[in-house]
Amino acid sequence: MRENTQSPGETLLTRTQIGSRIRELGQQISVDYSGRELVAVAVLRVRFIFAGDLVRQIDPKISLRMDFIAASSYGDRTNSSGHVEINQQLQVDISGRSVLIIEDIVETGRTLRAIQDTLWAADPDSVRTVTLLYKEGPDNRDLTLDYVGFRIPNVFVVGYGLDFAQMHRHLPDIRLLESAPEDGMKDHTVQ
Ligand code: XMP
Ligand code: MG
Repeated sequence: MRENTQSPGETLLTRTQIGSRIRELGQQISVDYSGRELVAVAVLRVRFIFAGDLVRQIDPKISLRMDFIAASSYGDRTNSSGHVEINQQLQVDISGRSVLIIEDIVETGRTLRAIQDTLWAADPDSVRTVTLLYKEGPDNRDLTLDYVGFRIPNVFVVGYGLDFAQMHRHLPDIRLLESAPEDGMKDHTVQ
């Protein structure tokens, strides 16, 4: 096992910035889904912190079911590669329902596309997506992102649920990783 030398560096987004943006997203989603039933599908496992904070900012009067879907991508540690595996074991029948995917970060968009395709195949009424972070780039401009927390540059970030090798998820702020891992270090990254 290699020693992990990467440590969290500069803060990109503070807990205060994150918290106030999530309140805004929650308010917007509450307005948009007012009087409707909603199934929020959070993607395991990084998303547990954002999803938990976001759903608690959605108007309690909205009927909301919560479910989870697992996505794994295979690649090196700071870049996701082509292959995405979706493990769909939804407890809620989403057919005919309004679905909101809760993502934490979109880089190439491959993970999100695979999740969107999987959920559309179950015949929902609508599928929208909220992502906390969006690394906008030439490959992902055609993605459907209905709610975006922050657009960030193409840097590797940790904290607030995001990890490097399962570390740093507990940090309350979103921070840059001090030094990028060496190229060519391949592993299986379970998100
Ligand atoms: P794609 O390229 O499929 O990638 O949009 C999305 C997945 O890649 C991981 N990812 C990150 N994880 N800090 C992380 O901790 C990052 O800066 C980062 N960028 C991408 C993440 O698992 C995401 O779901
Ligand atoms: Mg990760």
